[in-house]
Amino acid sequence: MTSALLTIQNLTVRFGGLVALDDVSLDIAPRSIQAVIGPNGAGKSTLINVATGIYGATSGRVDYDGARIDGRAPHAISRLGIARTFQNTELFGEMSALENVMIGADRHMCGSYLSSAMHGPAYWRTEQAIRAEARRLLELVGLGNDTDVEAAALPFGKQRRLEIARALATRPRLLLLDEPAAGLRSAEIDELNSILLDLRANLGLTILVIDHVMALVMAISDHITVLNFGRKIAEGSPQEVRSSPEVIKAYLGEKAAHASHS
Ligand SMILES: Nc1ncnc2c1ncn2[C@@H]1O[C@H](COP(=O)(O)OP(=O)(O)O)[C@@H](O)[C@H]1O
Ligand SMILES: [Mg+2]
Repeated sequence: MTSALLTIQNLTVRFGGLVALDDVSLDIAPRSIQAVIGPNGAGKSTLINVATGIYGATSGRVDYDGARIDGRAPHAISRLGIARTFQNTELFGEMSALENVMIGADRHMCGSYLSSAMHGPAYWRTEQAIRAEARRLLELVGLGNDTDVEAAALPFGKQRRLEIARALATRPRLLLLDEPAAGLRSAEIDELNSILLDLRANLGLTILVIDHVMALVMAISDHITVLNFGRKIAEGSPQEVRSSPEVIKAYLGEKAAHASHS
């Protein structure tokens, strides 16, 4: 499949004796919304961490837009057009929503507006452009009326969307979202779903969503890959995955484990 935007081939990641990912392969087609789901500890975040340069591969490889990227530095991968959010919210709480997004752009462009010592006309032009772009991104995630609100004062669901806007400030083609629905109520999940569909339509984005439960991804994913203990146990359409005996077993097993711990 040469047409995939991201290709993961036979990826294995070990931490000492622990195998976090075991020979996992998957393709992400351009402009698709795909999901990786699986119980806690399945290796989902590890997958994103390899694709963004935080972890290296023990074996196997990751290619993006025709070039091998595993083992490259995170900033280099970001420049190629891959952005992510983290499982745990990482915002600057005392800064406004707008400033949080502007910092996302600033980190990306090396001629940074915050660190620039020369506040000449070029600086102001850049600053104005970044501000306008940040406003547009906040509107795209439904935070157009919250630009001046401190990040910490936003309700949790909006904080998660602010993180997405910040990731978009690097102008990615591929957006990797690590459990964006965690902690959201079902109305907020519906809202997030429609935002992700809009982002694909308006920005031509390709999106990989990681989820622990199936609620978010079932409604919007073109293709789902299921991991359990680092292994791919199923993949296909939401309907195919939902009815897979392997998947049902993995999730029931997790429920049983939780029940026995409580
Ligand atoms: N940096 C690390 N060092 C050691 N073990 C790790 C590290 N990162 C992840 N793991 C382990 O790898 C496995 C998969 O973790 P992770 O990818 O975070 O799972 P998930 O995101 O699906 O919950 C877990 O057993 C986890 O403890
Ligand atoms: Mg995780």
